[in-house]
Amino acid sequence: MANVNGRENHGEPAVKRPREKAAPEPANKVTVVLGAQWGDEGKGKVVDLLAMDADIVCRCQGGNNAGHTVVVDSVEYDFHLLPSGVLNKKAISFIGNGVVVHLPGLFGEAESNLKKGKGLQGWEDRLKISDRAHIVFNFHQAVDGIQEQQRQQQEGQNLGTTKKGIGPAYSSKAARNGLRICDLVSDFKVFEDKFRMLAEHFLGMYPNLNVDIEGELQQLKVYAERLRPLVTDGVYFMHKALTGTSKKILVEGANAALLDIDFGTYPFVTSSNCTVGGVCTGLGVPPSHVGRVYGVVKAYTTRVGVGAFPTEQDNETGALLQSRGHEVGVTTGRKRRCGWLDLILVRYAHMVNGFSAIALTKLDILDTLAEIKVGVAYRVDGEPLPSFPANMDVLTRVTVEYETLPGWRRSTEAARGFAELPSQAQNYIRFIEDFLRVPVKWVGVGKSRESVIKLF
Ligand code: GDP
Ligand code: IMO
Ligand code: MG
Repeated sequence: MANVNGRENHGEPAVKRPREKAAPEPANKVTVVLGAQWGDEGKGKVVDLLAMDADIVCRCQGGNNAGHTVVVDSVEYDFHLLPSGVLNKKAISFIGNGVVVHLPGLFGEAESNLKKGKGLQGWEDRLKISDRAHIVFNFHQAVDGIQEQQRQQQEGQNLGTTKKGIGPAYSSKAARNGLRICDLVSDFKVFEDKFRMLAEHFLGMYPNLNVDIEGELQQLKVYAERLRPLVTDGVYFMHKALTGTSKKILVEGANAALLDIDFGTYPFVTSSNCTVGGVCTGLGVPPSHVGRVYGVVKAYTTRVGVGAFPTEQDNETGALLQSRGHEVGVTTGRKRRCGWLDLILVRYAHMVNGFSAIALTKLDILDTLAEIKVGVAYRVDGEPLPSFPANMDVLTRVTVEYETLPGWRRSTEAARGFAELPSQAQNYIRFIEDFLRVPVKWVGVGKSRESVIKLF
C-alpha cells in the first residue's frame, strides 16, 4: 500500500507529511534596498528614510568598503559596517553572515559617529552580529595593499580597491581557512592557534607583510569580550523575525549591482554579491520571504576606482557633476568619476534584481544644466550591442547613443511633491520610468532626511 508520500509502506504507520500545497504562506517579507549602478547612489539616505518604521535593519554583504552617509538635523553620519538604521533607536541592527567584519573598523566607526551627534547613543544595545560572519584581520588589509601594488607593477593597472581587506577576507572564506565571529567568542586558545596559522599562511605568500601577530591578538581578545553579548545565531534570529510576530525587516545593500562579483564589471568589482541573491545567502533568508526590492539610482552616474565607464564625462560636465554633487568617496576620500545617467546599465541591474520601484537620488545636482543626456544604447564597431557585455574589453570600446532632454535650470531643492517640480524635471523622471518600465517611488532633491519627494 502506498503511504501519503506515494512510497511503499513497510509496516510503519503512515505519517502525514505536509505537502507543498499545505506549506504555510511566508508571514513576513523583507524589504531590500540595493545600489543599481557603481555604488554611492544614496542607499544610506533611502535606508534611513525606510528605517524610521522598521523593526530590524540588516547588512547582508560587503564590509567597511561601503560608505553610507545619512544627514539628520544637519549632522552627517557615515556608516561603513553599521546598518544606517542604527539611527532608529527602536530598531535592531543586524550584521549578517555574508558581511566581512573588521572589528577595529566597526568600533571605530561607532566612536566617530558618537562624537558627531546623539544618533548613535546606545548603539551596542541594539546591534546583533551573526556568529557565522567572517572576520577581516589587519593583515587582510595589508595584503589588499600589497596585491594592489603587485597588480600595478605586473599588469600596469590596479583595481582601485578601498584597501579595507575585502578581497583577501572573502578569499580566506572561499579557501575555507577564514575565521568567523563564532571562533572569536568561543575558546580563545583555539582561536589564537587558527589565527596564527592564517597569519603564517599569508606571511608565506608575502614575506614582507607587515603583521603584528601578538598586538592584534591582544586587541582581538578585548573585542571578543565586548562582542560576546552582541553575537547571535543569525539563522534563528532571522527565522524568528520572519515567522513570529509581524516584524518589519529592511535590508541595506552595500556596494552595487555593477560591483557584484558575478554580475558586475569583472574584474573591477568587489568580492561579494551585491545583487538580490546576496540577501538570501548573506542572511539565511529564504527567497520566498524577499518582498519589495528597491533600486537606488543616482540621476547621473559615478564610479570610484578603476574600470570601464561608458558615459563618463572627462570634461566640464563631469567636473560640474563632481563639484555640485560633492562626489568624493566616503571611505577613501577619492574623487568619484562622473558622467551621464546610463540606462542600459540600470536596465541590466533591474534584470538581475527585479526592482519593484526606484529611488532616484540627487536630481537637484542637475538643476543648473541646460541639457541633460541619458545613455540609451551601446554600439561597438558601429554595430548595436544587444546586451550589457560581460567582457570588459568590449565595454571599454562601446560608444554610447544618448537621448538629450531639456534641463530645467531652476532649483528643485524645496520641492516636496511631484507637481512642484519643473515640467522638464517631471519629464526626466517619466523618461526613466518609461525606459526601465519600473516606477520611480522617491526622488531625492537634497542631502537631508526631509529632502525627498514621495511619488506614491
Ligand atoms: P551610498 O553609498 O549609496 O549610501 O551613498 P553615499 O552616502 O556614499 O553617497 C551619496 C551622497 O549623496 C551622500 O553624501 C548623501 O548625503 C548625498 N545624497 C543622497 N541623496 C541625495 C540627494 O537627493 N541630493 C543630494 N544633493 N545629495 C544626496
Ligand atoms: P557603497 O556601499 C563605491 C569599489 C572600489 C573598487 C572596487 C573594489 O558606499 O556604495 P573593494 O575594496 O571592495 O575590493 O574595491 O569596488 N567599491 C565601491 N565603490 N561605493 C562602494 O560602496 C564601494 N565598495 C567597493 O572603489 O573600485
Ligand atoms: Mg557610498
